[in-house]
Amino acid sequence: MAATEHETVFTYGAPALKYGTGASDEIGYDLTQYGAHRVLVVTDPQVAATGWPRRIADGIAGYGIETEIFDGVHVEPTDVSMQKAVDFARGTGPYDAFVAVGGGSAIDTAKAANLLTSNDGELMDYVNAPVGGGRAPGRPLKPLVAVPTTTGTGSESTTVCVLDVLSLRVKSGISHLRLRPSLAVVDPRLTVSQPPGVTAASGMDILCHAAESYTAKPYTEFERKRPEQRVPYCGSNPLADMFAEQSLRLLSWALPAAVRDGSDLKARAAMALAATFAGLGFGNAGVHIPHANAYPIAGQVKDFHPKDYPADEPMVPHGMAVSLTAPEAFRFTFDASPERHRRAALLLAPGADEPDDPAELLPSVLIALMHDIGIPDGIGAVGYTESDIPDLVDGTMKQQRLLATAPKPVTEDDIAGIYRRSLTLW
Ligand SMILES: NC(=O)c1ccc[n+]([C@@H]2O[C@H](COP(=O)([O-])OP(=O)(O)OC[C@H]3O[C@@H](n4cnc5c(N)ncnc54)[C@H](O)[C@@H]3O)[C@@H](O)[C@H]2O)c1
Ligand SMILES: [Zn+2]
Repeated sequence: MAATEHETVFTYGAPALKYGTGASDEIGYDLTQYGAHRVLVVTDPQVAATGWPRRIADGIAGYGIETEIFDGVHVEPTDVSMQKAVDFARGTGPYDAFVAVGGGSAIDTAKAANLLTSNDGELMDYVNAPVGGGRAPGRPLKPLVAVPTTTGTGSESTTVCVLDVLSLRVKSGISHLRLRPSLAVVDPRLTVSQPPGVTAASGMDILCHAAESYTAKPYTEFERKRPEQRVPYCGSNPLADMFAEQSLRLLSWALPAAVRDGSDLKARAAMALAATFAGLGFGNAGVHIPHANAYPIAGQVKDFHPKDYPADEPMVPHGMAVSLTAPEAFRFTFDASPERHRRAALLLAPGADEPDDPAELLPSVLIALMHDIGIPDGIGAVGYTESDIPDLVDGTMKQQRLLATAPKPVTEDDIAGIYRRSLTLW
């Protein structure tokens, strides 16, 4: 039998992009280019209260396009909340385009509403197996214009939609190329009203997207795929690396500055660019251990109520959940690519003192930054104890799609060790 053939091909996909102050005033014109006559604007109540979704809808109406607003998005969407958006879109439709105005929660909800009004079947049919049916949409979706108001997820560029399946207490997603928005409109003005807690958590999400995709298993180390086997996440590659490096460079000054002073427009514009760059990178390369751990950390939450998020239910926001085990995860992956870990750290903290043990550099840079911007001190500070670790490990091991991009093999014991050492960070 022939020896395993290594991959020689990497892929890159992205939405069309408009970036900059004023970009969101042009969406009506953009929609005419798709031939849209009736569009649904999807947002959440707190973002609706900023006035931007109404302003965008009015701008669209100025081009003779009928608009409807759904402002019932649930922050960190669930199967139940997404179903409400789908029912609304089915009940008031048909729509020939969607516009999502909000963070990852609104953009992902719009992806689901678009999917289930363009294709038959129900939400769980499309959720990744084994949680759901893993079905692929057979028909193309309608154009989706994604307008991020957080500087974080990069969902405006990606092919995934993340949801909490309430009955199973598990976070999962729908992942398919057809989910990618047609156009990302990144207007930094919309991000200025993010409260500091949201800026910090979603900023750590950007940072982990960049650092994880930069340290992901290189595409050349995967087995050669046939065309029909290709997946959106192909491992680190020269194009994604370029985006990750630029993102880290911007975050080094803009993340602390934007948390300190939300009205700092220069920092907000740099954060919006950093989020876009990281999304374009990780949306093709993939992420690994910190993101795999974030699913159970968020999904098994007990009684943590983060500042600046809706107070009605406990939650560990995505970016916070991702960051809490990142220092330990990168200490674990260090030996797979020491130079990349070092470079990521020095892009984030140029001139940082290099400790005797080079594996400590990236974790120490991350911990100093997290402390500075008000991220909780480890998984213990969001309510987990040693006795929760087996359940958290089970949850992580279910995220094989993400662990496949880790730069080295990961066992249950490795993950348990990462959780144990992340109970407190400083
Ligand atoms: N699809 C993807 O590629 C992808 C990637 C990472 C995360 N996610 C998902 O995205 C969700 C998190 O998204 P997020 O971090 O962007 O935050 P979010 O959409 O959950 O919003 C966080 C909070 O900030 C508020 N908010 C947002 N923008 C605001 C603004 N400009 N002014 C005032 N308040 C504002 C929201 O109302 C909400 O209360 C999670 O469900 C996560 O799992 C998706
Ligand atoms: Zn993320």
